[in-house]
Amino acid sequence: MKKPISSLVKEYLRTLKPCVHGGEVLDAAVKSGIKCEDLLDFSSSVNPLGTSKKALLAVEAVFSQVAAYPDSASTELREVIAKHYGVAVENIVVGNGSTELVYLFAGSFLSEGDLVVMAAPTFGEYEGAVRRAGADVCFVRLGDDQLLDVDAFIAKLVEAKMAFICNPNNPTSLLVPSEGLERILDVALELGVLVFLDEDFLEFVEEEQKFSFIGRIGKYSNLFILRSFTKLFGLTGLRVGYGIANKEIIDVLMRVKIPWNVNCLAQAAAVVALGDVDHLKKTRDLICEEKAYLQKGLEGVRGFRVYAPDANFFFIDIRESGFTAAELTQKLLMRGIMIRDCSSFKGLEPYYIRVAVKRHEENVQLLRVLEEILGKVI
Ligand SMILES: Cc1ncc(COP(=O)(O)O)c(C=O)c1O
Repeated sequence: MKKPISSLVKEYLRTLKPCVHGGEVLDAAVKSGIKCEDLLDFSSSVNPLGTSKKALLAVEAVFSQVAAYPDSASTELREVIAKHYGVAVENIVVGNGSTELVYLFAGSFLSEGDLVVMAAPTFGEYEGAVRRAGADVCFVRLGDDQLLDVDAFIAKLVEAKMAFICNPNNPTSLLVPSEGLERILDVALELGVLVFLDEDFLEFVEEEQKFSFIGRIGKYSNLFILRSFTKLFGLTGLRVGYGIANKEIIDVLMRVKIPWNVNCLAQAAAVVALGDVDHLKKTRDLICEEKAYLQKGLEGVRGFRVYAPDANFFFIDIRESGFTAAELTQKLLMRGIMIRDCSSFKGLEPYYIRVAVKRHEENVQLLRVLEEILGKVI
């Protein structure tokens, strides 16, 4: 090779790095010398009860199909999702995790030089997808209350082609009030700006239906809504998510996506998971109860400022504790507990952590260790 490979890479891809995420259990095991199965992972906000048993049985039942290609259009799964929400199959696209759809959406509609508006901090893959499409990002910093400044966001839409909104937001666990979201969507529709609304964590919010915009895809032809089987359904390792939008948007995505993007095991598991009402109810009840328990306990830890969460995880300002997020994360890891150090999120100082709600005995252990390290508010 006469030229260095690096000189052949598209210019705007040369400085890209992978995004940091929670749930890196293998890495944590290596760093701490503690076995994976002995680590308690509060860094990834997925269902503490794990995967639905019915979905796992469905996976087993299709083992024999592994030698064949899966249905490239994920037709049965799209039909089940469409029926669940009372929309048409043509309103649904399925992806290899909802992350694939973040990239598919950005890659399908953005060109070099386009501008995309998003909050800071928010889920890091939006920026990754926008940059990989050669477009630029305009960040709108959250206020001191960690809420989206709707007017500032709207002001930036004039220059934009697309906007990303995470509701509730990762890592803050806070909803954008529906009235504000509606104002953004109205202006975006008027300006011809596409809106990518990530509702991956909305299933953990009480009164989910009241806050979801799935029912508005008819009104907002510029709106794409993201959902996932990762969080509530615990199909995390199988990688399956979906998007809901008007038929024109979905038609584009179905044509642009790679073939066979969702494997047969994931499709079969997701079809069953969506209908496993018992598992859903158990999960929601547990989260509701344990969220209240954990909130009380975390508010009692010395130096913690806890934001009241809308989703299944807590966002905590620990600057008064005397530790940075990295220091506390490391201290907890050496005691077998993983939390998310939020320093890698754009726009955050190094004093924020994210902690998922888990099962009672796990939450008890987290609080015990935190109180040992930091003490209790007297
Ligand atoms: C807000 C948000 N959206 C999307 C995703 C992607 O999830 P998945 O690709 O597993 O569906 C995540 C993962 O952490 C997330 O936090």
